[in-house]
Amino acid sequence: MKTTIHGKNIVLGVCGGIAAYKSAELLRLLTKNGASVRVMMTRNAGAFVGPVTFEALSGKPACIDLFDRTDPDASIRHIEWAQEAHGVVIAPATASMVAKYAHGLADDALSTFLLAVTCPVVVCPSMNTDMYLSPPVQRNLEMLKADGHLVLEPGAGELACGTVGPGSLPEPPLILDRLTSLLTRKDLEGRKVLVTAGPTREPIDPVRFITNPSSGKMGYAVARAAEHRGASVVLVSGPTCLDDPPNIRIVRVRTAQEMARAVFEEMGDADVIVKSAAVGDYRVRETAAHKIKKTADELTLSLVKNDDILMALGERKTRQFLVGFAAETRDLQENAREKLARKNLDMIVGNLVGQPSSGFGTDTNRVTLFYPDGQAEPLEEMEKDAVAHIILDRVCGRLA
Ligand SMILES: Cc1cc2nc3c(=O)[nH]c(=O)nc-3n(C[C@H](O)[C@H](O)[C@H](O)COP(=O)(O)O)c2cc1C
Repeated sequence: MKTTIHGKNIVLGVCGGIAAYKSAELLRLLTKNGASVRVMMTRNAGAFVGPVTFEALSGKPACIDLFDRTDPDASIRHIEWAQEAHGVVIAPATASMVAKYAHGLADDALSTFLLAVTCPVVVCPSMNTDMYLSPPVQRNLEMLKADGHLVLEPGAGELACGTVGPGSLPEPPLILDRLTSLLTRKDLEGRKVLVTAGPTREPIDPVRFITNPSSGKMGYAVARAAEHRGASVVLVSGPTCLDDPPNIRIVRVRTAQEMARAVFEEMGDADVIVKSAAVGDYRVRETAAHKIKKTADELTLSLVKNDDILMALGERKTRQFLVGFAAETRDLQENAREKLARKNLDMIVGNLVGQPSSGFGTDTNRVTLFYPDGQAEPLEEMEKDAVAHIILDRVCGRLA
């Protein structure tokens, strides 16, 4: 199973802006994710980053000039590449290119190509804040949105020119995420998906807590995949180091009790609930008000059981499709099947944790999906993003 972008023909349009160096990084990210990328750049882009960089990273000739006499096919590039593209990203899009595209001007390779494009286009404007906020640029961006293109908000902060405000090119992973979303089929449109992710922290005193090694990567991957497929997504997340996924409502919690409250508040109108958080089973009976001093040779903590959120969801669910996770260190089959039945789940994702490429903290996972009818579906080791899509494929199949 490959990610959405794998094998797709993407054309990266690069214009003469200071952020052109970031498009080299974006190109690298696209190819790393299996896309076949062609670069079409303006002459002025070449003043910032030379075509050799883009050609080396894409493994293909870059197109700059439709009248290049050394390339016999140059004159048809704008049509051929447009017909073969699954997606187009213009990053950075200069004020000049934004104006040309909005008004249908075709006076160089990239602007001419853009008029022939029929696939989804992501426009990433990047420029000085005053240029970006100027009425003509804003008007032109509105026109591009009205034409159905995805215009990404530039980042805000200190720009290369020293101004502070909106205008910087979004980071390449965010651009990749938005392009991927645009190219993903919307089979969860109109559905609300509630996902939990990450560990919980049970405080011992103000500076110490009990937790586990969950990174949140699997749950965040499910949340992102659901958003890409058109769902309205709420992510209830324990403490993680991960960036907020775009276009997803995040409810941040710390303890198992906080997580339970957030989940019960959100479950009512959810169509699908995926509980991938590693929730602490026990909490400290009494959290110390002040830091516990290292005086005694032995310290005993008294723990009390937390409510079982998944169990409660299984009892309370009406129409919600409920997916649980079972992270086990042994007897995966038995433990997962027992949990599936006892907690009234519609599917359980079992994985053996503690392996180098599977489980906590890794980017890949090897899981088996278990269903109430007794079926088990072992999946090969793959990226957590790909696992997330397979889980949602199976959910969609059963929702229908
Ligand atoms: C050093 C320098 C940095 C520039 N940075 C930007 C920029 O970030 N965004 C932008 O819209 N224009 C920027 N410009 C202006 C564009 O290069 C100029 O408008 C050019 O005509 C754009 O051509 P193109 O869209 O065909 O690449 C910059 C110009 C210079 C000299």
